[in-house]
Amino acid sequence: MQDHDELLQLSQQLLDAIAVNDWAVYERLCATDLTAFEPEARGQRVAGLDFHRFYFDLGPVQGARCTTMVDPQVRMLGEDAALVTYIRLVQSSSDQGTVTSRCEESRVWVRTEGAWKHVHFHRSQNE
Ligand code: GLY
Repeated sequence: MQDHDELLQLSQQLLDAIAVNDWAVYERLCATDLTAFEPEARGQRVAGLDFHRFYFDLGPVQGARCTTMVDPQVRMLGEDAALVTYIRLVQSSSDQGTVTSRCEESRVWVRTEGAWKHVHFHRSQNE
């Protein structure tokens, strides 16, 4: 499989793991020293997986969820590093009806010993 297609597939797997609260998949795809800027961290750069695990440990959210990467772009930063950017749309349903949220995401992947690992991301506020 081409790197481009594999990175898009892995990115979708990562987002689906978040949507269905699948910690095993999320952990497998991420480097243990993953760094991140995301709204939950209130402007701090967080390192490691514990910060993210907190949310998985809360358990799955109620209702269906569908996550779509809109206009995804893969930019190779060398043979073994890549930047994936896209708009993330999350459709969800609850007793109150359906809602769609959007945000911008940039995710960096590095290939180590033949396997791509997610090493950094930056996510905007949800709108
Ligand atoms: N908050 C976890 C992630 O977006 O990767």
